[in-house]
Amino acid sequence: MENTAMADSKGYGLLKGKKGIIFGALDERSIAWRIALACKREGAEFALSNAPIALRLGQLDALAEETGAKIFPCDVSDNDDVAKMMADVKSEYGSIDFILHAIGMSPNIRKKVEYGELNYHFFNQTLDISAISLHKVIHYADKAGILNDGASIVALTFIGAQRIFSKYSDMNDAKALLESIARNYGSRLADRGIRVNTISQAPTKTSAGAGITGFDALYTYADKIAPLGNPDADECADYCVTIFSDLTRKVTMQNLFHDGGFATAGISEEMIFALTKIYGEEGED
Ligand SMILES: NC(=O)c1ccc[n+]([C@@H]2O[C@H](COP(=O)([O-])OP(=O)(O)OC[C@H]3O[C@@H](n4cnc5c(N)ncnc54)[C@H](O)[C@@H]3O)[C@@H](O)[C@H]2O)c1
Repeated sequence: MENTAMADSKGYGLLKGKKGIIFGALDERSIAWRIALACKREGAEFALSNAPIALRLGQLDALAEETGAKIFPCDVSDNDDVAKMMADVKSEYGSIDFILHAIGMSPNIRKKVEYGELNYHFFNQTLDISAISLHKVIHYADKAGILNDGASIVALTFIGAQRIFSKYSDMNDAKALLESIARNYGSRLADRGIRVNTISQAPTKTSAGAGITGFDALYTYADKIAPLGNPDADECADYCVTIFSDLTRKVTMQNLFHDGGFATAGISEEMIFALTKIYGEEGED
């Protein structure tokens, strides 16, 4: 299906006058990178943040230059780093209207440790970096007094939180925790009109995605089941800006599937055809 993303258009000015922080852009395939470009297109001003080790790869400078953003190093597993970063962003940008959390990492997956044999130190790191970091980011942003009333916070997640995908291993657990933190904090910040949601994106070809064994099969499976097919990172970015915008002021504590219909689809005609070709009709050998 043709990519219908707005990437080359002038946008709608949905984020005009808004400021934000975007965590997790690593290279130009990163979903956060595409979201940064869409936020720029829609008129936002923002800070970019990533772990110092990721910044050393050097690619984020290009995005900063293209979007006029400043870069703030921050390892989200380090509380002091997050606190300092929020203070630094505040003195540079003042208060902000949106935050994107696009951070995920599992040392167990990286080192191909099976779920039944999880290394618990790594497991803690997975949960800390991929889920608890959302709590930290919101906590320290709030503590720094940086969040405007009506702000919108989005974290990217995956359907592994609801349905187990074997090769996604402990990231299934991390995403379940991430989504719960979004709901929990959303309920607490609602009195200031602040929204907290997760966007559950389909498999997307990025560095994090490519690190998962069997990713290509997972990608193809989702694409063949989803009636609209898998959305790419630019399409995710278009959706994300609507959640940052004032058009969605009463949407909070939701897990929003952005997956071409995969989450509620059972099987597609294409899959029935393909599986029949492999296994034959009922009664056949
Ligand atoms: N790619 C997919 O198929 C897919 C699908 C659904 C959801 N997601 C989610 O989207 C988000 C972005 O992932 P992506 O696919 O764009 O891959 P990516 O590798 O481009 O982004 C992951 C980011 O997390 C950052 N990170 C890791 N450890 C960190 C730390 N300690 N401190 C700060 N940042 C740290 C990395 O540097 C990187 O920028 C993740 O939460 C991922 O789980 C991805």
